Amino acid sequence: MSLRMLFNDAYLSGLMREWPTKPAIHELPAESKLPLIINAEVLDRYVDSCAMPADKVIVIMSGAALHPRAYTTAGDLDPAKVGNWRGRGYSLQLRNINRWYPPLHAMCSAIQGETGYGCYVAGFVSPAGAQGLNHHWDQSSVFVYQVVGRKTWQIWKPVVEEPHRDYLASNAPPGREVVNRLKAAGPDHEFDLRAGQVLVLPRGCMHSPHTRGQEDQSIHLTFVMRERTGHWIGEKLAQAAIRSAPLRRVIPPDRVVDLAAFAEQIDEARTLLVKWLASVDDVALAAELLEAARTEPDVDYV
Ligand SMILES: [Fe+2]
Repeated sequence: MSLRMLFNDAYLSGLMREWPTKPAIHELPAESKLPLIINAEVLDRYVDSCAMPADKVIVIMSGAALHPRAYTTAGDLDPAKVGNWRGRGYSLQLRNINRWYPPLHAMCSAIQGETGYGCYVAGFVSPAGAQGLNHHWDQSSVFVYQVVGRKTWQIWKPVVEEPHRDYLASNAPPGREVVNRLKAAGPDHEFDLRAGQVLVLPRGCMHSPHTRGQEDQSIHLTFVMRERTGHWIGEKLAQAAIRSAPLRRVIPPDRVVDLAAFAEQIDEARTLLVKWLASVDDVALAAELLEAARTEPDVDYV
């Protein structure tokens, strides 16, 4: 089980039964192969050579990302420019590493096969004394593996209820008032994540990671888990409803642009949809959706 690269068996069996709702720190299992497939040496080599795809890198400080023109030449990452920004205290955000580093692609695919949840990996390479992203929450739970150095994580209880995909997503700003209130109250948890540890960060928890007070660079990898929900099933059911011929019938324009007529069409479509949904073979559809859950690509949004 590839989540075994991150957690021990006892924690994993609990995780499969009950998805975490509270932040926690775990030690990477001693027998984990993760440090063999990805480590500081490999990531440093990528960052120094800029061998990553240019559109998978963001150069960022305190939540403000540079325009790609500031660190690319003719569309490719420019090692001299990237090095210059890093020297000035900027962090590198490496996006969807599993799409361009095959060993992590294999690990994410295995995790998806095991859990039915989508999985992708983002990385952060931060110099000492830096803050890449400001206070924010994420709409997916994440497992943060500290590769090298240390990173301080200030974490607050969830500030939104059940964030999911593009609803209550992390790109919705928390608002200055909320951030100020939480800062004044102080974090609910503060962890100094060190190399070889894994932070479990449930979706919705406001967090502020930084390397202020650190003397060495920090690299961490974030395994983002795209949880399955009733909404995900609902989307799949709605997509499958295209098999219903009555729902595919054309509605003439005058019944679209007339509000009262259109309301009647909505009522009719709802009736047809409910009727079709009631006739769906749950077991057959479960097999179909499980295949989708285990295989459909699920990458970083934006
Ligand atoms: Fe985050």
